[in-house]
Amino acid sequence: MSTPTLGKDLVGLEPLSAEQILLILDTAEPFKEVSERAIKKVPALRGKTIVNLFFEASTRTRISFEFAEKRLSADTVNVAAAGSSVSKGETLVDTAKNLEAMRIDMVVIRHGASGAAQFLGQRIRSNVINAGDGKHEHPTQGLLDMLTLRDRFKRIKGLKVAICGDILHSRVARSNIWGLTKLGAQVGVCGPASLLPRGVEELGVTILPRIEDAIQWADALNVLRLQLERMEAGFFPSLREYNRVFGVTNERLARAPKDLLILHPGPMNRGVEIDSDVADGPHSVILPQVTNGVAVRMAVLYLLAGGSPEWAHRGADER
Ligand code: CP
Repeated sequence: MSTPTLGKDLVGLEPLSAEQILLILDTAEPFKEVSERAIKKVPALRGKTIVNLFFEASTRTRISFEFAEKRLSADTVNVAAAGSSVSKGETLVDTAKNLEAMRIDMVVIRHGASGAAQFLGQRIRSNVINAGDGKHEHPTQGLLDMLTLRDRFKRIKGLKVAICGDILHSRVARSNIWGLTKLGAQVGVCGPASLLPRGVEELGVTILPRIEDAIQWADALNVLRLQLERMEAGFFPSLREYNRVFGVTNERLARAPKDLLILHPGPMNRGVEIDSDVADGPHSVILPQVTNGVAVRMAVLYLLAGGSPEWAHRGADER
């Protein structure tokens, strides 16, 4: 069977096949080692110009993409809405077309509107990578979560992963659901009924009404923050009440039939969806997720630029 390719853009995990997802995860493996070197650089994207368009706040994703680009030797420019002509009313497409007129190769975009990455990808020649669009998808987060699960369990197929918290507003939840189910994992969702999308079970997930149910059922919990900035109305009585009913605490985890792996995409609200002793505890892989994020983004950039997976897998001395 021939090696799959990714096409022009990465807008989500929904359009990808299991083979394409595995291609990215497998290509990320050798890139992990690059970040452990004294000189963290390979020439794979030398001569390529990448623009990071971040129209929403970000710490992990923006910096991780920038490190990934620099470690692949690309030239990078960061553009935020504030300080650019977007703040004067310029459209997204006009901004991107002006950047293309300066001969760029790729755009990484984070935007508050669901569908922004696909919209842009259909209108410009450059490769477009979705770094999170509204409530739609955050594909590289889903990929780094899967890479971290695979590191620990040595497989994805058959794993039970419970995504806990604000599923309704979460692009991370959607990318995880698409990616994990395509790779044969069982996915549960747990949160207040007001924060579960209507018809979510049609995506092939199990609804776990109580956090205690998720803890009994799962091999791993992916804990999500409450996206207060995307909530128009009161979805639950108070943060204290949320922590009391849905918080992931050591006391609750102590009743689990086995040790659960704890993931969180960040940013965390400590003492709300997750207690500090869990976030910093022995089963937390929250910081390894961040480390894996750089390798996954290097793999996505490299593959979209037409790189061959065989080259990435050659010995470190050859690369
Ligand atoms: N996980 C994630 O997307 O974090 P940032 O918002 O800091 O990029």
